Amino acid sequence: MNIDSLRSRLDSAGQGHLLEFWDSLSDVEKQSFYKELDSMNYTEINGFFEHSMQTLKHASDKLDDLLEPLPADVCGSVTRTDADKIQEYNSLGLQAIAGNNVAVLLLAGGQGTRLGVNYPKGMYNVGLPSGKTLYQLQAERILKVQQNATALTDKDCVVPWYIMTSEHTKEPTQEFFASHDYFGLKKENVTLFEQNLLPCISFDGKIFLANQHKVALAPDGNGGLYKALRSSNVLADMESRGIKYVHVYCVDNILAKMADPVFLGFCINKGANCGAKVVEKAFPTEAVGVVCKVEGKYQVVEYSEITLKTAERRNTDGRLTFNAGNICNHFFTMDFLKMVSDPAQESELKHHVAKKKIPHVNSLGELVKPTEPNGIKMEKFVFDVFHFATSFAVWEVLREDEFSPLKNADGAAKDTPTTCRQDLCSLHRRMMLQAGAKFVHKDGSEIPHIPSNQTKADAGDGQRTCEEFNEIVCEVSPLVSYAGEGLSSVVSGQSFQPPVSLELDKTGKVQMSHGVNNNI
Ligand code: UD1
Repeated sequence: MNIDSLRSRLDSAGQGHLLEFWDSLSDVEKQSFYKELDSMNYTEINGFFEHSMQTLKHASDKLDDLLEPLPADVCGSVTRTDADKIQEYNSLGLQAIAGNNVAVLLLAGGQGTRLGVNYPKGMYNVGLPSGKTLYQLQAERILKVQQNATALTDKDCVVPWYIMTSEHTKEPTQEFFASHDYFGLKKENVTLFEQNLLPCISFDGKIFLANQHKVALAPDGNGGLYKALRSSNVLADMESRGIKYVHVYCVDNILAKMADPVFLGFCINKGANCGAKVVEKAFPTEAVGVVCKVEGKYQVVEYSEITLKTAERRNTDGRLTFNAGNICNHFFTMDFLKMVSDPAQESELKHHVAKKKIPHVNSLGELVKPTEPNGIKMEKFVFDVFHFATSFAVWEVLREDEFSPLKNADGAAKDTPTTCRQDLCSLHRRMMLQAGAKFVHKDGSEIPHIPSNQTKADAGDGQRTCEEFNEIVCEVSPLVSYAGEGLSSVVSGQSFQPPVSLELDKTGKVQMSHGVNNNI
């Protein structure tokens, strides 16, 4: 340990206070703290800080005049594409999967503060009959899409799963997967890697201490992906497996389709090197980012970055002009990922800055938990690489089929465990209806496909109100069907009394559990 040299580096960077408690530390504490402080690049951190403060200063500047809608030729939509074409995209995607050319990459380094649990979000169980967690649903969708690709092509294949964690989520995620035997996936095909952390900084540029011998750190945002891909050798691993396409998604969307063949096929068909799956924005003030162009480059612009007037702008057909709601579901070619992860490009991605209440120790060595924002966290965003895209593709899907994120604890108005559970059950009920199943009441009368919009008292016999409809429990294991395929041979012509659950048993047979199961 060369403490004098470290002290002088810190002093000249204006961060000398970090050694304030050095003399009172134990030898073990000194060792680890020295290692931490010595590994940091203070010129870089101070540079990030200065740029972030500039960003804060201009936070109220709006981008309105620079915004351009997406050109029609990069866009496709599941509702405006005929069934044959969708089938063509699906086959193209499955063939890429069968050729071992596709990987999925999960962004799971967030701290999930809004949900308020002290374990990684992927371990959350939203209360489905099966009790499956988000991680298990995702693992099973990967298993099923592999099987579907094999069924189409007769080739065995693997979709490797890369999971980006952070200091806070790595260990519990690792233990969770190990204790659940990787949910049927092979351990060697599930790779966890860690994103970097950045110090939290006060408004006057001083790095906070979490305690007397540790810096207060936070994950560097989901755009930390690109640096981590390089530093953890994930890119090299992908290359050695022959990966050509990577589907990146975020952990909290219970309806997310891992390695979605249709989305992959659409992007491959377009020859895109970068793509985004979106849903139509529900209303102008919905707080989602929109995919659009800014000064000729593709970008996601948050709602707060534009005025209400621009958010409300509509085309002649009545649709919102900026309506491509980002659902954090991205397609990248391997070449594109390699390019944007190169330090020359990666360093061009600027940090976004958030004012936060940052717990820290003060100069007296006391722990302070502020009630007002006292500093900033700096994050890169995964979609900021869109502006490097030379060929871009945007695939619009239906919200009710593909987007229901878990953001908040129950009690909040939206994006809660309850809304996730209901949305998944609603999707599965619709998949079964389409496959020819009927849902019936206890007395055998059919439950209408569409809920009554009357109140319970006024709704006719056998009718259900929207609220009651939401409570119809129906869960189809991803191991039985990925997106409705193969269901009709199992459920067509049969009546099901909720709660309904379709699961595969150990012999690979579908087990149906429900109130009744009479042939119609
Ligand atoms: C994100 C999108 C937003 C989109 C919304 C849809 C970003 C920056 N914003 O917002 O445009 O409308 O999803 O649900 O993508 N994560 C990390 N490391 C981090 C921070 C986050 O891996 O340092 C992961 C999270 O675990 C999560 C994903 O990134 O899987 C999204 O992060 P989150 O903070 O939930 O983003 P939102 O604000 O919801």
